[in-house]
This record gives sequence, structure tokens and C-alpha cells, in this order.
Amino acid sequence: MVVVGGNVVVGGRVVVGASVVVVDVEVLDVDAAGSASPMSLLQAARAPTSNVTATRRRANEVGRAGGVHVTPSSLTDRAVQLKSWCEAVTMLVPIRHARRADVAALVAIAEEGEAPGVDEGYLDFVAAQGRLLVACDPEQDNAVVGFAGSIPIGGAAMVTDLFVGSRRRGAGVGGALLAAVTDGFDRRMTCSSAHPAALPAYVRAGLEPQWPVLVLHGHGTGSAVPTIDGPWRHDRHELIGYYESLGAEVGADHVLQRSTDPRTPHRVVRMMSDQPAVDIDRILATVPADDTVELCVPAPSPLAALLQTRGFAVVDDDLFCATPGVHLVPQLVVLHRGLL
Ligand SMILES: CC(C)(COP(=O)(O)OP(=O)(O)OC[C@H]1O[C@@H](n2cnc3c(N)ncnc32)[C@H](O)[C@@H]1OP(=O)(O)O)[C@@H](O)C(=O)NCCC(=O)NCCS
Repeated sequence: MVVVGGNVVVGGRVVVGASVVVVDVEVLDVDAAGSASPMSLLQAARAPTSNVTATRRRANEVGRAGGVHVTPSSLTDRAVQLKSWCEAVTMLVPIRHARRADVAALVAIAEEGEAPGVDEGYLDFVAAQGRLLVACDPEQDNAVVGFAGSIPIGGAAMVTDLFVGSRRRGAGVGGALLAAVTDGFDRRMTCSSAHPAALPAYVRAGLEPQWPVLVLHGHGTGSAVPTIDGPWRHDRHELIGYYESLGAEVGADHVLQRSTDPRTPHRVVRMMSDQPAVDIDRILATVPADDTVELCVPAPSPLAALLQTRGFAVVDDDLFCATPGVHLVPQLVVLHRGLL
């Protein structure tokens, strides 16, 4: 095993405490790491090339101090793509199923990732329907450093969540979590955020960008008394049950979460329709005229253009990504960015 400055090829093993981790190829930069913990070494691996000789000397100093044994092997000063990066990361940063005691850590990590709506009920739903996995740092008392969720929909894995704590990003943890949470599914899909590491991670996992998902804000028209025309007459009954447990109004073709807080919009969280122009007017009519309504709409849907002609504005957007062969039905005109 070799640890040198910049991105340098090495083959061999890293000794962390009592464990010996064998990697095909390793790329480390101890200058950038500042310590020799597995996580800092992983983060340093993505750092740009620096002075090889000086850093190599320092690497050995840090390695000895940190209990990481460094044995020179072969090296080059060119950056090299790791062949089995995810496997190496998974060995250094164990991934396991989430536990109830992890909830507070997961909510905090999601907040750092600017994701609203991740709470205990949401995490319970994902865990019950699919997989909720966490990555831990053995050097920090196995503290949770990231998490990922997925639920099966029509035989494909929908990646609901992928978050790494801000200090641990860029070290391969997100990629390793993504591989674990989609393992066993050839067909995968997700809504990617604009974070610079999100799309590369999904592309590496075989997902291709398809179309934007637009988050639109506008106003109700307040011209009708709310009536509920349920029950829901489509699929995804487990998802509808989750919305019902949150107190949402479930119609035959739409689900509306009414807000009692003027700072929070009413949210249409699901709508299936062959005639969205007619159906959306019916829903907006049941919302008071000055109240804000939020909807997530696939950009190719005619509903996206229609709402914008009615004064709705795009306040955020994600990118729907999927492996080849995954297609959503055109009737799905309003969806949830995490749960679809
Ligand atoms: C998106 C996120 C989960 C990725 O996790 P991560 O551990 O930082 O990512 P990784 O180190 O595994 O890198 C994943 C890919 O992104 C690339 N990458 C990492 N950081 C990057 C950056 N700052 N800019 C551009 N690319 C970057 C990596 O090179 C890698 O691509 P590759 O496999 O082709 O080499 C994490 O950055 C995060 O939590 N971001 C904020 C929350 C968020 O937006 N989550 C996504 C929700 S859809």
C-alpha cells in the first residue's frame, strides 16, 4: 500500500485498527486529508494532484501517527480512476439498514442537504416499503455519515433519498450508498437534485437524464366548496395510505394536502389525469383564492405549460433520471419528487 500526495496509483492494503482492507487500486492525498482516518483518506483521494515527493514523506508521518501502515509500492503522479471504488469505500465505511435510533441523524443530514419533508413518518414509510440504508464511520464511533432510500415501483427501484453529511461528501460514500440501495434492480429511477455530485452519481449507476420535474407555485381560485370524490381509483395504494395517514384529502384522481399554516403552501402531491386542464381547475377551485398551491409536474406534461399560462411560476426543479426502458405513464401529471 502506498500513500502519496495528489492522485497516485497504488495497489495493496490499508490497515485500519485490527482490520486489513485490500484494495485493487488506491488514490490518496494525505496533505489534503490532514489525518489518517479512513474517511479523510477517502476524501483526500478525490483531491487534485500536488507535490508527490513532499506529500509522500508527510503521508508516512501521518500514517504512522494515525496507525495506518504505509508500504511503498508503485506510483505515478497521474490521476487514476479506481476500478472498485465503491467496494473499497463500502469496506471502509460500512453500510447497514437504518435503525430507529438513527432517525435524528438522518433528519439532520437531510436538512444539511436542503431537503424538506424528511421526518420519522417519511423514513418509516420508505423503510417499510423498500430499503433505508445508512453509511457509518468506524473511526467516529460508527456515527451515521449518510443515508439512502429506495422503494420498488413496477419492478424498478425508485431512489427516494441520497444524502451525505456535508463534511463527508466527495469521498465516494454517496456512490457506495446508491449502489447498495439499488442492488438487485436492473431498472432504476430517481429525481436528481442540482447538487454537482448528484447527477454524476446517478449516471455512474446507469441512470440517464430524461426530463425536468418542475416545482410550480400559484394560487387557488376559491370558486367552489371542497368536495371529496374518492376513493382513489388508480395504483400505489400504499402511497395513498401514507398520504391519508398525514391527513391528506384523497380524491378519485388526486391527493391534496391542505395547509393550515399561511406560510406553508397547499400541496397537490399526486394527480392522474387524461384531461389535466379540466381536473386541475376543479382542484384549484377548492383552494381559497389568495392561498399558495404547490405541485411537482413533469416538464413534458401539458399540465406544466398550462399552469404557467395561468400564472404559476417555477420555484425549483429536479431532473428525472432512469435506466433505459423505464417510462412513466403520461397520466401521472403531478408526482412527489422522492416517492414518485
Ligand atoms: C449527492 C451526494 C449524495 C453525493 O454523495 P458524495 O459522497 O458526495 O458523492 P461521491 O463522492 O460518491 O461522488 C459521486 C460522483 O460525483 C462526483 N462528484 C463528487 N463531488 C463532486 C463535485 N463537487 N462536483 C462534481 N462532481 C462531483 C464524483 O466524482 C462521482 O462521480 P464518478 O463516480 O463519475 O467519479 C452528496 O453530495 C449530497 O448529499 N449532496 C447534497 C444533497 C443532495 O443534493 N442529494 C441528492 C438528492 S437527489
